[in-house]
Amino acid sequence: MSFVKGLECHLCGKEYPAQALWVCSECLGPLRVAYDYTAMRGVVTRQAIESRAHSIWRYQELLPVETPKTGFHSGFTPLVRADRLAKALGVAELYIKDDSVNHPTFSYKDRVVSVAATKAVEFGCEVFGCASTGNLANSVASHAARLGLRCMVFIPDDLEPSKVIGSSIYGPTVYAVDGNYDDVNRLCTQLADRYGWGFANINLRSYYAEGAKTMGFEIAEQLGWRFPKHVVSPVAGGTLLPRILRGFEEFQDLGLVSGDIPKIYAAQPEGSSPVVKAIQAGLEFPEPVRPNTIAKSLAIGNPADGFQVIAAIKRTGGAGVAVSDPEIVDAIELLAHTEGIFTEPAGGTTLAGAKKLIEQGVIPRDESLVVVITGNGYKTIDVMKDRVAASVPVGRGVKDFEAVMGHVPVSAGR
Ligand SMILES: Cc1ncc(COP(=O)(O)O)c(C=O)c1O
Ligand SMILES: [Zn+2]
Repeated sequence: MSFVKGLECHLCGKEYPAQALWVCSECLGPLRVAYDYTAMRGVVTRQAIESRAHSIWRYQELLPVETPKTGFHSGFTPLVRADRLAKALGVAELYIKDDSVNHPTFSYKDRVVSVAATKAVEFGCEVFGCASTGNLANSVASHAARLGLRCMVFIPDDLEPSKVIGSSIYGPTVYAVDGNYDDVNRLCTQLADRYGWGFANINLRSYYAEGAKTMGFEIAEQLGWRFPKHVVSPVAGGTLLPRILRGFEEFQDLGLVSGDIPKIYAAQPEGSSPVVKAIQAGLEFPEPVRPNTIAKSLAIGNPADGFQVIAAIKRTGGAGVAVSDPEIVDAIELLAHTEGIFTEPAGGTTLAGAKKLIEQGVIPRDESLVVVITGNGYKTIDVMKDRVAASVPVGRGVKDFEAVMGHVPVSAGR
């Protein structure tokens, strides 16, 4: 049973039927899904949720689909208590929300695409596509293959080779656009309008964004139905961060979790930080920038939901933080060395941002903190190739080994 009432404008409140619409015809504001929360009371309970499979669909009543179509186990990724990392950062209670192992394509995008792909099927879209900085294209291409949908993905032409192959392997048409993400997005907006195809993050965006709420639901559920004090999230287009907050608020409104809503912080690379700049300048809307960073998945200069990110941060009492490319690389290494988790530069950005906020005293050392790791380092290994120790060439015999092993003391029998 669906509890969706329709779509409503985020700015002026005008209501629309639940179709493939994304902007308000009155004020050009973004549309979001409206639910009948009153009818959900007593139906959406902790027990009902806990009895279901470990995927985003355990929160089905709070998602805008009739029946999930994808068959993938997206979501319910590990929330890891990260004590070794906590010690390195000097904090008491730290968790990693680890979407680097999300299913099927190892990034947070599998949450939003599972919902968008289901809507593409429900709406009978002839083509399923997206404008992407890499991870979204991977997920859209994979879901399209599983559902037998015709697929076109559009990316900037300077992406990491593994991210490109991570889309092409599923058999879509991959268009590498001569331009940056903002150029790609403009082209796709025109194509969505002209051909009526289903673009996950354009005309299906109101539904797509709902999938990101599950990050907030899971953090609260996995902490034992409570909120942490602080959450640090990466920001590019601005889908994820405000929906983490919406997830927390829906759980609070439904009486599933009590206590204060966490403070939420946005982390961006210095080379692409329009939202952080706007927060620091006291602006309500970000000024577009031209991105230049190793964190290619976060290289969006004109974020579609930038003002929603800024509003969410203000509402919770959070802040924005920008980090340099070397800080991103250091943080990727720190996470790998302390927790055995290999993330891509987006995750490095989030962790480096968290570290900075702790050092600045913005996040107190004795309060619980969740760092949202949204992507997998195996897709961007080039970024780390100069950072890791070279392998040691060795012959086949014990003597060969002992000749090169140096003077590192190793006790016998280990
Ligand atoms: C790994 C990863 N993390 C975070 C983001 C940013 O998320 P959002 O566009 O929702 O701000 C992206 C893509 O844009 C991404 O690929
Ligand atoms: Zn409006």
